[in-house]
Amino acid sequence: MTQATPRLDAARAAMIDKTPKCRKIADERAEILNSGLAANLEMPHPIFLEGGRGCRVWDADGNEYIDTSVGFGLHILGHRHPVIYNALVERADKGWMFGIHTTAQMELATLLADGIPCAERVVFCNTGSEATMYAIRAARGFSGNEKIAVFDGFYHGAHDYGMWAAVPGTPPENLGKVALGHGIPKALADLTVMLPYRHPAAFDLIRKHAGELALVMVEGVQSSNPQPEAGEFLRELRQVCSESGVLFMIDEVITGFRVAYGGAQEIFDVKPDLATYGKAIGGGMPVGAIAGRADVMNVFTGLAADRGVFSGGTFSGNPLTMAAGAAAIGYAKAHPEIYEHMTRSGERLAAAVNGFCEQRQIPAQMKHVNSMFHMFFQAETVDSMRDVHDRHKIAEKAFYLHALNRGVLVPGTQRAFLCNAHEDADVDRLIEVFTTSLEDVQADGLFTH
Ligand SMILES: Cc1ncc(COP(=O)(O)O)c(C=O)c1O
Repeated sequence: MTQATPRLDAARAAMIDKTPKCRKIADERAEILNSGLAANLEMPHPIFLEGGRGCRVWDADGNEYIDTSVGFGLHILGHRHPVIYNALVERADKGWMFGIHTTAQMELATLLADGIPCAERVVFCNTGSEATMYAIRAARGFSGNEKIAVFDGFYHGAHDYGMWAAVPGTPPENLGKVALGHGIPKALADLTVMLPYRHPAAFDLIRKHAGELALVMVEGVQSSNPQPEAGEFLRELRQVCSESGVLFMIDEVITGFRVAYGGAQEIFDVKPDLATYGKAIGGGMPVGAIAGRADVMNVFTGLAADRGVFSGGTFSGNPLTMAAGAAAIGYAKAHPEIYEHMTRSGERLAAAVNGFCEQRQIPAQMKHVNSMFHMFFQAETVDSMRDVHDRHKIAEKAFYLHALNRGVLVPGTQRAFLCNAHEDADVDRLIEVFTTSLEDVQADGLFTH
């Protein structure tokens, strides 16, 4: 007998009722667009956005949501910020794509070089995926080694080198790895060492493979598992990589200019050899960047001709992206108070939700680092993704549907963010929506123990 879930049924019916245009698009899209992206980012109910301003977005049916995706984390200032809007219009007026270098790159390059602790040089590309791909190539070129080491629970972009996951249940000292989907050459498995996140066995494995490793790469904060305790692990990693003569890279595609102006490097006080960027530094336009030690970065310039690596790209450093990025990062530099605001908002949200879960004995918790957060539907401690179980998948899905129905959008990846445009009243509303949605899930009996 299937369990009665009156609250979930009501939320589902309400969403169906208020989204006729979105549902029509979803039906038509199924015939035209392949759903690869949609599968990855599946929402609890299909909605298609029409626009956004500040921390709010609205869908094709005119329903408004408080947005906790903010462009998958990139809008630190919120949607359609006037400073970025004006920079884009001004740039468009002069022409927006030449291929040949423009004056536009220097402003953003200078902001990055000044703001990123490890940046002695900067190279632009178009996405975070490209940035990590180039960083891997640079490290291979510089070191002459071919293996790279990554951590379970990681995401470094969509290229073949990043399409691996640890096999659940395999021992930390010898994690199995499996390709995320087909089409990833098996040969790459041999070039990828899977390390256990926040586990001392990682240090032994780096020492063991030191002679064949080009690079150890780790997210500044794992978006799958955001928690400040990771800082100590990062500092120790830095040390072990230095002692072992292996290049150490922090992927700051999400954390850069978000968790603090100086990113994870600033909040954790750690300086890698290389770091990768994307998202926030483009102000909403497609962007990627690699930054790091001059001697390593020189492989991109031909200055170290015997180790030079190829980089390029029609759109790399294009004027529109550079204008939007310089406007966003320039604003953040001039307004350091935005980071205090975002951090305070994230702390208040997580404290309220976690307090509520404890008080009501709801097996859920919110992990967060400053303005990044992720809900886990288990009461057990989550130190790494190895600790995560999916016993409460049904409750999780129901929670996000209730939140959406109450006007809060959490992206299908469930990695969520606050921006400077989330004001105190918006955070109050988020707390209200998250707690009442948890209550609904509990009342329907969807948390099974
Ligand atoms: C840590 C990290 N690295 C790399 C990427 C890839 O960036 P992009 O989606 O711009 O290719 C992402 C994307 O979310 C990311 O979170």
